[in-house]
Amino acid sequence: MAKNAWFETVAEAQRRAQKRLPKSVYMALVAGSEKGLTVDDNIAAFSELGFAPHVAGLHDKREMATEVMGQPISMPVLISPTGVQAVHPEGEVAVARAAAARGVAMGLSSFASRSIEDVAAANPQTFFQMYWVGDRDTLVQRMERARAAGATGLIMTLDWSFSMGRDWGSPAIPEKMNLKAMMQNAPEAIMRPRWLMDFAKTGKVPDLTTPNLIKPGQPAPTFFGAYGEWMGTPLPTWEDVAWLREQWGGPFMLKGVMRVDDAKRAVDAGCSAISVSNHGGNNLDGTPAPIRALPAISEAVGDQLEVLLDGGIRRGSDVVKALALGAKAVMIGRGYLWGLAANGQAGVENVLDILRSGIDSAVLGLGHSSIAELSPSDLVIPADFRRDLGV
Ligand SMILES: Cc1cc2nc3c(=O)[nH]c(=O)nc-3n(C[C@H](O)[C@H](O)[C@H](O)COP(=O)(O)O)c2cc1C
Repeated sequence: MAKNAWFETVAEAQRRAQKRLPKSVYMALVAGSEKGLTVDDNIAAFSELGFAPHVAGLHDKREMATEVMGQPISMPVLISPTGVQAVHPEGEVAVARAAAARGVAMGLSSFASRSIEDVAAANPQTFFQMYWVGDRDTLVQRMERARAAGATGLIMTLDWSFSMGRDWGSPAIPEKMNLKAMMQNAPEAIMRPRWLMDFAKTGKVPDLTTPNLIKPGQPAPTFFGAYGEWMGTPLPTWEDVAWLREQWGGPFMLKGVMRVDDAKRAVDAGCSAISVSNHGGNNLDGTPAPIRALPAISEAVGDQLEVLLDGGIRRGSDVVKALALGAKAVMIGRGYLWGLAANGQAGVENVLDILRSGIDSAVLGLGHSSIAELSPSDLVIPADFRRDLGV
């Protein structure tokens, strides 16, 4: 462990992740499709929003706890599901432990490297995330496995259009981590001895399989094997979404909504929550930042289901901006991945602590005693900020 493993900001965690991870792993986390317009706007949009603070009559204590999908959480932040492998040997289990230690709910990707059983055991507030992969029987079988493991909610992610190209060049990800792949990646890995040591200590290489997509009696499919099945699956309709929600019966989030008309359809399909999201800029490039689409969506459906946001959250003040514009809570992706890469479970806890203290400072400065009091009047919003899509 580094002499002082603690870091002060998410930006510093990212710098450490860049130093620690092999370049291909780091770039797979940076991601961003095509030209990167969306991934850039996700961050830039938060910078366009300002605050209107008070200076006296401030509150000594600020309430930050809330509830999402029936789960009480200590602050309005959740772990967004990310299907990434090879960041850290403990992977999603370390993230789940950190989230549990900080009273935060965990979203587990079906493309994750660790099983729903291990993750739900580490954090009982785990939501299992699914894509529409395979036939209805397969979807139900995966969902029932998650339920049996103790998942308390389901996240259905629909915003994926199989965009492949990145102008900066996608990192090569081997099909399977066998000896040949190890040798091919060796020059990069040897440049990153601490990352290599973390894996060497476990006696394992990152195996790049997807244990949550196993079919009964078969081995875990590789990442690309599962991706191939996904590409071959007929695309879901709104009736399919309503059907899956009914099969699940419990709290159900639709992730990836950017338009008011789709948000209304999510209400009709019986969803309990949506996340206004563009997949962290990894999907259709040119989609605006979710924070721009949030106000119209929360005005339209905020009293009918829980509206969350994810994309571009790097500090507590970003969380507060999203809440002021109508989000109940936010989810974070890269933020915790940088923390995980920088310092394992403690690094993820470090990131959650940074967000917590940032939320607290902003709520204090804005003169509120609770996150529930936040509203657009706390913000300086440029006239052309909003993107009211599908109105
Ligand atoms: C490397 C990477 C992998 C991701 N994998 C998934 C996934 O498997 N399922 C999913 O619903 N979203 C996935 N996402 C999207 C995140 O859940 C989230 O929407 C996004 O990261 C939020 O933006 P942020 O990274 O700026 O916080 C992934 C994002 C990244 C960066």
